[in-house]
Amino acid sequence: MVKLTGYKKIKAAVFISGNGSNLKSLIKFSKKKKSPISIDLIISNNPKAKGLKLGKINKIKRKVYNFKKKYKIENQILSDLKEHKVKMICLAGFMEILSRNFINKFKGKILNIHPSLLPKYKGLNTHQRALDNNEKYSGCTVHFVNSKLDSGKIILQKKIKITKNDTKNSLARKVLIQEHKLYPRSILKIFNL
Ligand code: GAR
Repeated sequence: MVKLTGYKKIKAAVFISGNGSNLKSLIKFSKKKKSPISIDLIISNNPKAKGLKLGKINKIKRKVYNFKKKYKIENQILSDLKEHKVKMICLAGFMEILSRNFINKFKGKILNIHPSLLPKYKGLNTHQRALDNNEKYSGCTVHFVNSKLDSGKIILQKKIKITKNDTKNSLARKVLIQEHKLYPRSILKIFNL
């Protein structure tokens, strides 16, 4: 559990790789009085991530890193996080796997959102795999990050029904709408709010 100290919001960083629709919902949430976090830094591995524009509009500091030299880059990120007094990380469509060393430095303080009902469909291409297996339900999961892919302790899940006309795109859209509600609810939950 992350401890909320005093009445000050905990500084958080959001890591993104693409559209940033979860980032958008987190920014909106963070501005509410009831939010225990503020978003002070956005990290991306992709200079073309659309979500970076959201950071600019909202005047949030952004950093883009090329993850080819992962260990070096992670050390730079750790100093960025320190500089910005970031105490919590939200992965939101971030498509790099963080090293065990990095995760240990933020133990219990990194959250991820995944577009499936974990432990089912860890990794990529979740919606197509759920359809191929004729699943009746899919959904999304917010969980703590540990060193095993998509395997940390689950905070909250939201289940949705798969209908017979669903394609991977329609399913992704339906799940994403739920993700935008689930991530803020999960943050409130870990702060016991
Ligand atoms: C979301 O569906 C998120 O769950 C997924 O990427 C999408 C990002 O959308 N994350 C993963 O697949 C992580 N393994 P967004 O950029 O619009 O928030």
